[in-house]
Amino acid sequence: MAKAFSSAGSDIFSGAAPGSTEISLSSFVMGESVVLNKEKIKNLRALLLSWYADQGRDLPWRRTQDPYAIWISEIMLQQTQVKTVIPYYGRWLRRFPTVQALAGADQQTVLKAWEGLGYYARARNLHQAAQQLVNEYGGEFPTSVAAAIALKGIGRTTAGGILSAAFNLPTPILDGNVKRVFARIVALPVPPNKGITTLWHLSEQLIDPAQPRDFNQAIMDLGATLCTRHRPDCLLCPWQSHCTAYNQNVVTDFPMTEPRKPIPHKQIGVAVITDDHGKILIDRRKQEGLLGGLWEFPGGKIEPDESVEDCVSREIKEELGIDIEVGSRLITIEHAYTHFKVTLNVFNCKHLSGEPQPIECDEVKWVALDEIDQYPFPKANGQIIEAIKQQSLKP
Ligand code: ADE
Repeated sequence: MAKAFSSAGSDIFSGAAPGSTEISLSSFVMGESVVLNKEKIKNLRALLLSWYADQGRDLPWRRTQDPYAIWISEIMLQQTQVKTVIPYYGRWLRRFPTVQALAGADQQTVLKAWEGLGYYARARNLHQAAQQLVNEYGGEFPTSVAAAIALKGIGRTTAGGILSAAFNLPTPILDGNVKRVFARIVALPVPPNKGITTLWHLSEQLIDPAQPRDFNQAIMDLGATLCTRHRPDCLLCPWQSHCTAYNQNVVTDFPMTEPRKPIPHKQIGVAVITDDHGKILIDRRKQEGLLGGLWEFPGGKIEPDESVEDCVSREIKEELGIDIEVGSRLITIEHAYTHFKVTLNVFNCKHLSGEPQPIECDEVKWVALDEIDQYPFPKANGQIIEAIKQQSLKP
């Protein structure tokens, strides 16, 4: 069991300056955990909840207690900002108002509704989990963390967020914003991923069993609006006097960061292949991977010492088994994903011979330009479609 570093004597926290909560690296490495005393916990809860009553954001998913709607919001909010999520959330609930509607939809419709939000595994998992809920739970969302995390796409923090918001259960959360708040409160002497047990323990201790829904929403708001990464507004923070990093004037040094790995940059050759009737060839990616199940213009990675044109014709032969003529460059697109960057070198190409085969993809299709918007594409491909449309308007 983790040894506790607890408050002894008159101070709130042993060895710490009044009002602060210090955690030393040596204690941390020895597996000690931060234990807050009852008074401090009571005070922190009261300060946060009173700030939230005054300053909390009015967000659409806070106006409902429908577990389905809350689940959708929590999945959309993983890795995506509130302002981006709001319009998607409203459209999604109009398109799929119930878990049964989502479970019964086909995957393409689900991916189309998600188009532009990124991290498409989230949409594929939502769809599968909806089917799990309908088939195994009679369409009711489970009320235990263990059952919630058995659903596709739900980890401990998402489960905590859903169950506290939908059922007012005291289930702690630890998303990126909350990690930052706690890392500052205790001046966590390691990056959050290395101090994850300590951070979860803080979230477990602090959640208010009398008002878990509001407590979790409040701490998310604190992290998103005041305790921000680069410009924290400590003067307005309800937890200012309890914040070790603030008391030591080192707020932006926390959370500590891992040394950054260089971001790989991939050069991709992409073909916009047209046939004699002006139809365009698109393919649907295999289910696995970052963009699984989405449609794309076929292509692949440029090998060392290969020209882009050679890459395009080689990739198309390998992926689809056809011969093409590679023509002029249509557009070059730079796109950044979280862990890598890509340059898409897009070429106008003509189909010469062979019947396209789905050799390295799930499906291939010839589509007319005015049908193409029906298919879900990754964000960067939107620019390719726009460029094709512009080109087709030229005399
Ligand atoms: N991020 C994750 N869940 C959230 C919520 N309920 N409100 C605001 N931001 C969030």
